[in-house]
Amino acid sequence: MATIGVIGAGQMGAGIAQTAAQFGYDVLLTDLDLAIAEKGKAGIEKGLSRLVARDKLAQADATALLARIAPVGDYAALAPADIIIEAATEREDIKLRIFEAAGKVLGAGAVLASNTSSIPITRMAAASPDPARFIGMHFFNPVPVMRLLEVIPGLATSKNTIDRATAFGTSIGKDVVLAGDEPGFVVNRILVPMLNEAIFVLGSGVGSVEDIDKGCRIGLNHPMGPLTLADFVGLDTLLEILKVYQATTGDPKYRPAPLLTKYVEAGWIGKKAGRGFYDYSGEKPVPTR
Ligand code: CAA
Ligand code: NAD
Repeated sequence: MATIGVIGAGQMGAGIAQTAAQFGYDVLLTDLDLAIAEKGKAGIEKGLSRLVARDKLAQADATALLARIAPVGDYAALAPADIIIEAATEREDIKLRIFEAAGKVLGAGAVLASNTSSIPITRMAAASPDPARFIGMHFFNPVPVMRLLEVIPGLATSKNTIDRATAFGTSIGKDVVLAGDEPGFVVNRILVPMLNEAIFVLGSGVGSVEDIDKGCRIGLNHPMGPLTLADFVGLDTLLEILKVYQATTGDPKYRPAPLLTKYVEAGWIGKKAGRGFYDYSGEKPVPTR
């Protein structure tokens, strides 16, 4: 079984690591340092123990899954990986530095992939050691539960790289769709303007946090309302995505809602920070407006 390297042990990186390990891959998980990578693994362990407590997963399977995830503290440790998936903060400068460092240890036949939500794949590929072996692999949050994987080739991505990314996705239980290298690819191109619009609606006082979410939940049959989903995605990530859309297309329809910028500036970036459009510190989320 192949080895997968994951760079970034936040909610997406941890989710990718968990899912790959669930399907038998050995996973090398890294972040800014070893302590953060270990924290990412500890979060996976906590999630698995909840599944064990609810009889959704056998303890032995959880233990075996965790044993396949090795937190590592430096890039050199990623050298044995057949596919390295970058899932770090949605900022191009950060990702470009990562590709430079990862490029130095990337195996001769290995694939380098980015889980970016918005940054052009062709542009990042050009900064990678071999654009033919660079590809977008866009997972959905929470990765262990969401079945979709968008595979996004850049201009120079080889057919072999597309086939390997697709085969890997299928091998970990994902349904794969091929998407073009346009801002937001397919699904985020549609979703992100909707989440942004919900924040405009909130900012203009048309509806309360609870009513906007409730309206979309029961009026559109969405599993969660857009403000809850924005909190789950991360308001910092959402803002960065909108800025990329705006800068790449020049289209003003992607301007971020002022309230989104304000929440990010306050550090209220959603569930991962304990506070966004809801406060997550208690038993149940409470709206913050
Ligand atoms: N690992 C493995 N399985 C898990 C898990 C974990 N960490 N957490 C939950 N599960 C499983 C549960 O066991 C449960 O399985 P069963 O159906 O077999 O019982 C299932 O997942 C659902 O879990 P819950 O019952 O706890 O939760 P729920 O029914 O309230 O659903 C949800 C939670 C799936 C997140 C649902 O609310 C949902 O679909 N929300 C919308 C998610 C969404 O839109 N994601 C996309 C975000 S956008 C994006 O990702 C792209 C981007 O670039 C921004
Ligand atoms: P997150 O904030 O939960 O995690 C980001 C992680 O990257 C953090 O642990 C951070 O320490 C780490 N990081 C920052 N700089 C780094 C560096 N130089 N080297 C290694 N690690 C570094 O964010 P997330 O939600 O996991 O998003 C990660 C990526 O996945 C982004 O590109 C995002 O657009 C994309 N994505 C997010 C979602 C979502 O719903 N949140 C869905 C699909 C794709």
